[in-house]
Parts: sequence; C-alpha cells; structure tokens
Amino acid sequence: MSGNASPHEGTARRADLLIVGAAQLLTAPATPAGAPLRGSALDQPLVLADAAVACLGGKIAAVGPTADVTAEFPERLAARVIDARGLLVTPGLIDAHTHLPFAGTREMEFDARARGESYESIAAKGGGIESSRRALREMSEDELADRVAGRLRVLLAQGVTTVEAKSGYGLSWSEEGKQLRALGRAAAGSPVEVVPTFLGAHAVPEEYRPRREEYIALLIEEMIPSVHAEGLAHFCDVWCDKGIYTAEESRRLLEAGKRHGLAPKLHADELGDVGAAALAAEVGAISADHLLFSSEDGLRAMAAAGVVAVLLPGTAFTLGLPYASARRMIEMGLPVAVATDWNPGSTMSSSLSLAMTLAVTQMKMTPAEAWMAVTVNAAAAIGRNSRIGRIQPGFQADLVLFEGGDYRHIPYHYGHDHARAVVIRGAVVHEADHGSRCT
Ligand code: NIG
Ligand code: FE
Repeated sequence: MSGNASPHEGTARRADLLIVGAAQLLTAPATPAGAPLRGSALDQPLVLADAAVACLGGKIAAVGPTADVTAEFPERLAARVIDARGLLVTPGLIDAHTHLPFAGTREMEFDARARGESYESIAAKGGGIESSRRALREMSEDELADRVAGRLRVLLAQGVTTVEAKSGYGLSWSEEGKQLRALGRAAAGSPVEVVPTFLGAHAVPEEYRPRREEYIALLIEEMIPSVHAEGLAHFCDVWCDKGIYTAEESRRLLEAGKRHGLAPKLHADELGDVGAAALAAEVGAISADHLLFSSEDGLRAMAAAGVVAVLLPGTAFTLGLPYASARRMIEMGLPVAVATDWNPGSTMSSSLSLAMTLAVTQMKMTPAEAWMAVTVNAAAAIGRNSRIGRIQPGFQADLVLFEGGDYRHIPYHYGHDHARAVVIRGAVVHEADHGSRCT
C-alpha cells in the first residue's frame, strides 16, 4: 500500500446519492439517543467546510470532509453525484407547529386589527376560529386535500421535509375527521412527512358556549376515542389559555388523549398566564407551544420535565404581542424549538426561514440557535429526534442545499427563498431554478 492511499481503498462502496464539496455543512453534534440541545449546546452546532454526505437506502451513510467521504464512497460508484460547491447543506427543516388543513383565509381580520381591533374582540364577534369553521364546512374533503397538497409543495420548495399539522377548525367529529382525513390523503401524495395532531379543543364551539361541559364530554367520550380508532393523529393538543380552556379542563382532555395513545401537546399561555406551562410538565407533554405569558415557575417545571418549548415568533409579530422570552428559556435549560404556527388567523406565514429571522432579531437567539431550533429540537417536539433532524450516519437522509453558503446567511437574508435542492429519504424531491440565484 502506497503512503498516500486512502484507508478505505479496496472497500469502496456505492452511494445512492453523494453530495460533495459543500461550502458549509451544518448539523447538531451527536447526543445520547439524539436528545435535544439545551443551554450553551444550542449555540454550538457542528459546522464543516468542504463537506460531503453519502446516502444509502434512504439513510445517511457518511458525512464529513469531502476527501474522507469520497475515499469510502467514490464519485465513480455513486448512482448520483451533486456538486454542492458554494452551497450550504443542512438537515431538512422541521416545522413542528402548523394548522395546515384550514379552509378560507381571514384578511378582513388582518385589516380590522390594523384599525385597532384585537384578536380577542374579533373572535368574540363570531370571527376568528368560528370564521374558519364556517369556511371549512363549505369545503369538501376532496377540495381540502387538494389545498393541503398545494401547501405541502410550498413547504417542500423552502426545504421543509417534515411538518406537524393540526385539526381544530371543525369542532365536531365529522368536520375534525374531515380535516384529519384530508391531511392524510395529501400526505400520502407528498414526500414531505406529515405528523398529524388532533386539536378538537381549539375553541369551545359557539353553540356549546352556554354548556361547555357538554362539548368537553363529547371530546373525551367520542372524538378522542374516534381519532384513536381511525388512527388519524399522533398527538392531542389543547388551547389552554385565557378565555379558551382552563388548566383544569385541559388536564382532563390531555389525560383522555393519553388513555387513547395520543401524546399531549399544548397551545400554552399565548394570551395570558393560566398555568399552562406547569400543566404541560405535570401531564408529561412532549411540547408546550407559544408560552408568551408563562410564569418562571411554569417554565422551570417544563425544563425539569424535559418538555420542548416551541416558540412561534410569527404569531407575536402578526398580533403585536410581546415575544416569548427565548433567552431566559435557554438559560433555564429548556430545549427550545421554533416553528411557523401557519394558520389563517394569527399567523398567515408558511416561511420557517422568516420565523428563524424573527427568532434572531426579536427573540435575540443566535443564528446557530435558530438552526438547532428548526432541526434537532423541532424533531424532539414531535418525538422524531432519534430518526430525523441531524446529518448523522443512520439518520434519515433528509437534506437541504441552500444558496448563500453559510448557515448565518439564511436568517440574515430574509424574505428570500434560498433552497436550491431538497432531499428526502435519500431522493432528490425538489430542485429550484438556478436562474433565481441572487447572491
Ligand atoms: O396558534 N392559538 C391558537 N390557535 C392559533 C390561532 C387560530 C386562529 O386564529 O385561527 C394560534 O395562534
Ligand atoms: Fe397554533
């Protein structure tokens, strides 16, 4: 063997897909069992220059400096090679909180808020979730499945490879079921992985307001068991907030979900502090989301229980609310994730990169922290952190190639689509027109 021969000579392997020469590759450092990142670790991603990734059988087979990876997986043997010179390679983006299967839009409420009305006063007059509920009733399941399919294409083109999506605009079994079935049908036709959540407790429906206990009983006795029986969702979410569901009601609903195999999630303390953060810790929620008004004690309980804090800066941005205290949460050791909250009421944004920008400029997270918040920690918010969210051997080969060549460029250059190619399970599922490049 000559002095400069590769250590892998003679054991050269064939890759299904080989990405070489990336200007930069960003991923989370390995943690035991793919645990989410907390504290100072959030600001210490692994950043490699002149990097390569080899994919085999839908998984990452190797990652590292191009010379090392190609010694084991030579270009001549690879089924497909992508030259990533000048590009940034990251794990596929994970949007861990959306309300994707919605019908209709609410720009008239946007206009009303611009004229001084509040989110709550619009809802009290029959707008808000009730307005989306009416639009949903008018739409067939076929049409809704079509709309969701279009939204999945929009997300994919930006580099989103996994998305959590909630029902919650039906508020009756037939309509909630319609939302979840439409979501499932759209997901079946898309390479994007869709993680469905049942949010029947998104509001108390208008007709049940004088007798809310009856709706809660309907959720617990009929709807939650039906979601489970039809296998329509993995999680059960409740909007636990001022004027929505109390902590006590939410506890009963989330415990019922648990009895039917649906792991708890919460919309927590978005409009006021009702103790939703502490409840999330108590019921062992996988995540508590929003957290704009949560108390220190509540957040401390979440940190101790390992509940992921999903921050949705687009909502504060749209509604003019104070931003969640991301810095304080990171200091307290909470695993922080960032998501869009894409919904037609409080946050009509499909852009996870804009959410990253807001995380940096408004919540004072670093660009590195924002990246960890939409990859590894977002995976933990949906219970997928042992399989996705990292570029690490054995993980699912979900990758994005971005123009800009530096991870900081993405949140910095906001309002622009940077994704050039998207890979899911080792297959290139989206390629952008190179002519659109502007850096
Ligand atoms: O996450 N917080 C509850 N749900 C949505 C808003 C729903 C709507 O207005 O349609 C949110 O902000
Ligand atoms: Fe939401």
